[in-house]
Amino acid sequence: MRRYSRIVGTGSYLPPRRVSNDELAAELAGKGVETSDEWIIERTGIHARHFADEGVCSSDLALQAAQRALEAAGLGAQELDLIIVATSTPDMVFPSTAAILQHKLGISNGCPAFDVQAVCSGFVYALAVADAMVQAGSARCVLVVGSEVFSRILDFSDRTTCVLFGDGAGAVVLQASDTPGILASDLHADGQHVGLLCVPGHVSGGGILGDPLLRMDGQAVFKLAVSVLEKTAHAALEKAGIAATEVDWLVPHQANIRIMQSTARRLHLPMEKVVVTVAEHGNTSAASIPLALDHAVRAGQIKPGQNVLLEGVGGGFTWGSLLVKM
Ligand code: UT7
Repeated sequence: MRRYSRIVGTGSYLPPRRVSNDELAAELAGKGVETSDEWIIERTGIHARHFADEGVCSSDLALQAAQRALEAAGLGAQELDLIIVATSTPDMVFPSTAAILQHKLGISNGCPAFDVQAVCSGFVYALAVADAMVQAGSARCVLVVGSEVFSRILDFSDRTTCVLFGDGAGAVVLQASDTPGILASDLHADGQHVGLLCVPGHVSGGGILGDPLLRMDGQAVFKLAVSVLEKTAHAALEKAGIAATEVDWLVPHQANIRIMQSTARRLHLPMEKVVVTVAEHGNTSAASIPLALDHAVRAGQIKPGQNVLLEGVGGGFTWGSLLVKM
């Protein structure tokens, strides 16, 4: 009998410090950087974001999200036999945030744990890898987390980027099943666009060599995002043999409301079928899709049996999608 994977629990966590556009604008004004609530809302749909306090790491946010996902699944941490964390803001250069999370969860069963680095597509990549490992028989019960503290890599003198991002974590528990849950996945990367969205610096010789802050060509990323998101959505639908009209919910990466509206339009999906959390979360990179998914599940919007299309796009350039039966 063919083996599938199913999402059996979701969870998420936002650090308590909520920073509204007005609060951020006032803080930036003190540094001579001019922005406004009106500009940010009009161009992005973002009203506020959450920032983690100093000393709080990706693994701390991941722990809270993971515990909530495990509770929703009715499973204990010891039952996990694989942990994958998608993050571009790991606690350390190494070991992986996943290994640190395993320890914080109190797991002593020796299960494998590793990070996936695909920036804002990280969760989609991680979930596709987890699904493949379940299908191959390498794992039965997987924790997949997207967790980020992007506030640590923002240049608060660059208004074109610092107003866009926030911190947070989202998680799912994936279990082996006789019936399909993950119906199809579609992943891509194009390394020629490395410079469009990157943190170019690296650790070398006891210091940081190069620029350790996020740099983005927003307009170029916007254009690429809109085109690849439509293509990957169609590819996942085709692989699953499902029509766009059968999609109950689109859960896109939460970067910009205008990108989501454009994607929905191209897929002929009404905005009522699109989960939108960017207003309150900002862009939380690898955490944005599982945060939005958990939000919609807990709000009673996404229900068991529904078809959900997850879509990510980001630095690399990377992009991809998954079609999931909840
Ligand atoms: O997560 C990975 C994926 N990332 C994304 O998907 C991000 C994609 N890109 C975007 O979302 C948009 O391109 C941005 C939100 C980054 C920018 O929106 P835009 O409509 O493309 O604005 P723009 O870059 O064309 O800038 C328009 C104007 C410029 O002024 P001038 O040259 O017209 O005088 C900017 O200097 O807005 C100015 N501007 C700002 N003004 C006030 C840029 N940032 C700000 C700001 N506040 N924060």
